[in-house]
Amino acid sequence: MTQLPIEDRAWLVSGLTLRVLTAKDIAERLGCSLRLVRAIRAEPITHVFTSAGDPALFTARLHDAGMKVVHVIGSLKAAHKAADAGVDALVVEGVEGGGFKSALGASTMVLLPLVAERVNLPIIAAGGMCDARSAAAALVLGAEGVQMGTRMLASLESAVHVGFKEAIVAADDAGTVLLDVPGNPTMRVLRTGLAARVSAADPDARLLGQVTELYFGGDMEASVANTGQVSSRILDLLPVEQIVRETWAGIESHLDVARARLG
Ligand SMILES: Cc1cc2nc3c(=O)[nH]c(=O)nc-3n(C[C@H](O)[C@H](O)[C@H](O)COP(=O)(O)O)c2cc1C
Repeated sequence: MTQLPIEDRAWLVSGLTLRVLTAKDIAERLGCSLRLVRAIRAEPITHVFTSAGDPALFTARLHDAGMKVVHVIGSLKAAHKAADAGVDALVVEGVEGGGFKSALGASTMVLLPLVAERVNLPIIAAGGMCDARSAAAALVLGAEGVQMGTRMLASLESAVHVGFKEAIVAADDAGTVLLDVPGNPTMRVLRTGLAARVSAADPDARLLGQVTELYFGGDMEASVANTGQVSSRILDLLPVEQIVRETWAGIESHLDVARARLG
């Protein structure tokens, strides 16, 4: 795929390690996104996922380039805003999920049916999805599909250091913490020593200080480690192909078992 110019890539990586970038920051830096849209336009890309910013910034340009736009939301208000911006589908992500989260803290269990009942767009459920059982539940709650973050992070093919993957497999149901520190984005991360220091507002604890040392060096104290609560249900590193195949193949039997419980 066409790469962003090296100076833009360097800026994006250093910016992400230092602070949260808004879509507006990125748009300004990249000349109102035109270069970014041009870069993806040159490729046979049909769907673009946007998140953590104003969906109105990119949606029309991406539509003009013939792409479908799927926007990630963590609240009903954000879902309405995305629908008003003309996006084609939503990722509805609950607070169980790994990484940056809506400060509202809505769970998948509540947010997903709420958005499905109030907003007329196809939905991909995120936050807590890792297998056929969770995918079947998401379908019942109103989704057309699911997105897995933590499960894919702990796949054999994932590029992150094996130490990070093993920490996900080792995590129990107390293994993650939602960091909601004033002046920082709300994030769900592994409960590491650094996460405790950030939570205690230690001025020397940098949220995303050395993120590449974490991802590729496996130093779990170099940066907070974005990870979802579903890590407690992930017991093995699996090939992506197996995760997808078993999820797809098992949905119907989970729905049948649930139906049978009705008696
Ligand atoms: C390491 C990591 C990095 C992520 N980075 C992003 C990101 O840059 N943008 C985004 O919209 N979501 C990001 N997410 C969220 C995932 O796309 C996904 O929605 C979330 O992990 C779903 O919840 P789960 O972890 O329970 O599967 C990230 C998640 C993880 C674990």
